[in-house]
Amino acid sequence: MSRLLVCPPDYFSIDYEINPWMRLSNAVDPERARAQWHGLMRALEEETGVFLERMQPVPGLPDMVFTANAGVVVGNRAVPSRFRHPERQREERYFEDWFRDHGYEVALLENGLYFEGAGDLLGFPDAWFGGYRQRSDIRAYARLSEIFGREIIPLELVDGRFYHLDTCFCPFSGGDLLYYPPAFDPYAQAVIEDRIEKPRRFVVPTSEALRFACNAVCVGKHIALPEGCPETMALLEARGYETHPLPLDEFMKAGGSAKCLTLALD
Ligand code: ARG
Repeated sequence: MSRLLVCPPDYFSIDYEINPWMRLSNAVDPERARAQWHGLMRALEEETGVFLERMQPVPGLPDMVFTANAGVVVGNRAVPSRFRHPERQREERYFEDWFRDHGYEVALLENGLYFEGAGDLLGFPDAWFGGYRQRSDIRAYARLSEIFGREIIPLELVDGRFYHLDTCFCPFSGGDLLYYPPAFDPYAQAVIEDRIEKPRRFVVPTSEALRFACNAVCVGKHIALPEGCPETMALLEARGYETHPLPLDEFMKAGGSAKCLTLALD
């Protein structure tokens, strides 16, 4: 059974602006946020059958709901994130403690080597990709390659709205990839085309990329994604996936959606 780390949105709000989606004037509706978060959790538990590990939220850390940024976990090893923005650096020790308390062998990156976890490191069993420039530092991937003994292909992110790799790049269980090419520099686009063969690569339309179509959670044949992405859904269904569209717009106020709210633990 797959396990996902999640954190309830008890203290979720917009307290600062660290990406172009966040506006202090665009306040979160806490009731709606809670209902949307529980809706996603219900879909994941009931439709996909994953096991959810819930961590304790911390007052004053409004972005802690986005556990994709806790770090990255492979087998028994965890590398906690090193956030670029001081606002989120305060989350680091809680994620690190969670990994240690749950028996993970924790490897730490040196201070100042920014890396924002599974928000920026994604891939297939045979090829890992690391987003850099907006948040994570390209140098982190050399170190992570050493720690995990895997090749990591760095991809430069050039559009501030797609600041984490998981906002514009979504690998699926069947080896398929959903992505939004304009979020990448031309060299990264060429690398993706070279590494993922054409029949497995699917481009999302701009209107749906801007609704975070790529920020989907894939468990086996099931895909939970933000609602309002009909073209993406049609494309996925044609590939044999079962789609679960969900209202998650409260989280888009912070620049996040389904995938950001989860961290794969295996
Ligand atoms: N407000 C958060 C930030 O800017 C959102 C993080 C979304 N996480 C993600 N994996 N894309 O850091």
